[in-house]
Amino acid sequence: MTSAPSSASQAAVELSAAPDRSEAAERAAQLFEESFGYQPDGVWSAPGRVNIIGEHVDYQDGLCLPMAISHRCFAAAARTPTNRLRLRSAQDETVLDIDARTLAPETVTGWPAYVAGVLWALGSRISGASTRGMDILIDGQVPLGAGLSSSAALECSAAEAIEDLLSLGTEPLERVRAAITAETDFAGASTGGLDQSASVLSREGHALFLDCRDFSTRPVPWDLASQGLALLITDTRAEHSHVDGEYTARRADSERAAQELGVATLRDVDAADVAALESLLAQIPDEVVRRRAHHVITEIQRVRDVDALLAAGAVREHVAELGALLNASHDSLRDDYEVTVPQLDVAVEAARAAGAHGARMTGGGFGGSTIALVEAEQAEQVAAAIAAAFAEHGFDSPVFFLALPSEGAGQDR
Ligand code: GLA
Repeated sequence: MTSAPSSASQAAVELSAAPDRSEAAERAAQLFEESFGYQPDGVWSAPGRVNIIGEHVDYQDGLCLPMAISHRCFAAAARTPTNRLRLRSAQDETVLDIDARTLAPETVTGWPAYVAGVLWALGSRISGASTRGMDILIDGQVPLGAGLSSSAALECSAAEAIEDLLSLGTEPLERVRAAITAETDFAGASTGGLDQSASVLSREGHALFLDCRDFSTRPVPWDLASQGLALLITDTRAEHSHVDGEYTARRADSERAAQELGVATLRDVDAADVAALESLLAQIPDEVVRRRAHHVITEIQRVRDVDALLAAGAVREHVAELGALLNASHDSLRDDYEVTVPQLDVAVEAARAAGAHGARMTGGGFGGSTIALVEAEQAEQVAAAIAAAFAEHGFDSPVFFLALPSEGAGQDR
């Protein structure tokens, strides 16, 4: 791996911004009208996310610290006096027109499965006498394939719309669970719940402390802008390949590790005493499984450490220690968990060399995005250094955003 050029005098880069939320909601309403020929009852939206720390631990009852980003998925929708579920998208020509009472896993494929799956998952909440028909127009503004949870944003925007259109009376956590069920049981994809929790439960200006043992959450102040800091997102645009298979394999390794250590999940292992942890891990015969366990257990401890630092003061006061924890997280995902690809490692190395306090991959890995904790005034310089390193390696040009801690899912109009 080569490090980034030390001089950051490269060409200026652009930090892309998300579309303005109210303008985007207006646009979704207009697209609905063009598509269905009448005005929607409302527009709902849900954000994508970055995970600040706590990666590949949600499916082991771990702790995570995600935040919602300002890119959102919009769902303009209206209830109809029928049982037809009709779906259209501003990004894709696939349409769905199905009797909502017949929804079952494998009856719907492609992006519509993530919306239809939510209606199916909320089915037990819908009274037998009620019609289930609705028209929904999706306008997804979360970059696709960037590891920023565009599918969770899709599910969660649909969950908000369905909740309000059918007056179901669900709590936010129930909608989180419905979105998870839609993804795992209906669309047939794998997820541990981090993404849906962040999309529904995040608060503006805050990160979300998430305990995946019971999905309890609390907001944690994360207002970087007022402290002259920024979180730079780099979408590496590296192709996700074999993501599902690798994700499933990592989950299987971590489950095997828990079994061999005699615990229900790796959350039950204490990582505070490093020497004790090493001798405990020595009980795992397979070297790869041992490293997988080492990642999950130490990553959960790093979330505890970050949470303790944030409880003790503002980000600015502990920026060096927080940066070091982000760095350690990435290194563990690269070496122990092996979910990085060269583009993720190069982006992280270049950010660190250009002065970032810390940098790591975020999300599931195997492509997707990195985050870097930087001085706000250096964000463009760090981005330029990453772009230069990508050019030097012959990688596709990355795309940059600032991660502004945003509000979770809700109604727009
Ligand atoms: C993906 C999954 C999440 C989580 C992350 C890794 O984003 O959907 O549930 O497991 O990977 O932290």
